[in-house]
Amino acid sequence: MKVLVVGGGGREHAIIKKIKENKAVTEIFALPGNGGIAKDATCVDIGAKDIEKITEFAVSNKIDFAVVAPDDPLVLGAVDSLQNAGIRTFGPNKAAAIIEGSKVFSKNLMKKYNIPTAEYEVFDDMQKALEYLETAPIPTVIKADGLALGKGVIIAETREDAKNAVISMMQDKVFGDSGNNVVIEEFLEGPEVSVLSFTDGKTVVPMISSMDHKRALDGDNGLNTGGMGTVAPNPYYTPEIAKECMEKIFIPTINAMNAEGRSFSGCLYFGLMLTKNGPKVIEYNCRFGDPETQVVLPLLESDLLDIMQHIYDKTLDKAEVKFSDKHACCVVMASNGYPSKYESGFEITMPEDKNIYVAGAKIEDGILKTAGGRVLGVTEVAATLEDAIKASYETVKTVKFENAFYRKDIGKKALAAEVK
Ligand code: AMP
Ligand code: GLY
Repeated sequence: MKVLVVGGGGREHAIIKKIKENKAVTEIFALPGNGGIAKDATCVDIGAKDIEKITEFAVSNKIDFAVVAPDDPLVLGAVDSLQNAGIRTFGPNKAAAIIEGSKVFSKNLMKKYNIPTAEYEVFDDMQKALEYLETAPIPTVIKADGLALGKGVIIAETREDAKNAVISMMQDKVFGDSGNNVVIEEFLEGPEVSVLSFTDGKTVVPMISSMDHKRALDGDNGLNTGGMGTVAPNPYYTPEIAKECMEKIFIPTINAMNAEGRSFSGCLYFGLMLTKNGPKVIEYNCRFGDPETQVVLPLLESDLLDIMQHIYDKTLDKAEVKFSDKHACCVVMASNGYPSKYESGFEITMPEDKNIYVAGAKIEDGILKTAGGRVLGVTEVAATLEDAIKASYETVKTVKFENAFYRKDIGKKALAAEVK
């Protein structure tokens, strides 16, 4: 069986390694993949957003199954294009991917179907947004409507900061058209949980929960990043909370998308905050999280490709989805300076036999070199969270590249929560 995976980050590397476990798979193509993924798949130099070329490649290479992993191609309709060309493809179509592609859409969906989320207002007029901010409760949260490389959310601690955020999005267009509309929402507090789920639009099967570490520096300081590390499961996500989320959030969301004629098939990511008034949705993503996938998939005991095929066939209820009762920790190693300016082009050496998921690397003259902010993620699985964290940091010590930077406290908060 020939499989194609669209994307080229740590998440795609984790998906590819898992798909490779299926014995029927003869070849995996990554479009575009990266220098590290090249060990596990044939990388083809076609960009993840180049839908036409992706589709042509899939057809001419007689791909049996395709997986579209990143948000951009999903929101642009890559799944529609592949499926229209007769390729069996995992992922939501364009109509459903809007759940991530437009925050205005997702907030209005939650309001219409009573799905718990932060209170909010939508603005398409900057003056009105600025007027509203004169009296809005502070801190407040400003979100650009569209995709913004994970940077479109600003938590404003002062009225001044809030106004500046609105001006930068709506007037200066720092996120381009993504800032034509903004959402201004209530600031929520509580532990955050990521729950990725498999769904075929009829059945929803949550995967093991996880915890991301979004800030660049230890102690949750510094700038927001794409994610500096993850652990799974998330100790705050108790079976009682999981049940409540299933009843009040997961099933209602699937039903709401069906009612809107936008049935969601693929991986639906629920970014949740466990507030004192119950769990609330912070964001939906129409895809696997990064670096959540790097801890969730190593704990999946069932066959990922089999689950994905069941989802395509709308028979998820017949698939086996089983997770190990172990713990996983992923420490992201980045280029010093990320998420701002950083240097790259440094040789990477790392052990061969470990769960290392490469994100920002290229092969030059036969040598693997750094080529991005987040370079790779080191995952270890163990019987306890404490051991998984220790093992990850031990392996991190064996990975070498100049200017390497990583947080030293991945999992610390989770460990403290476990002891309580
Ligand atoms: P996002 O880019 O949507 O993942 O948001 C980035 C981060 O901003 C989230 O992980 C939260 O930590 C934070 N955030 C987003 N919305 C809110 C909110 N309403 N209240 C508090 N924090 C928020
Ligand atoms: N780790 C957060 C995300 O994938 O959006």
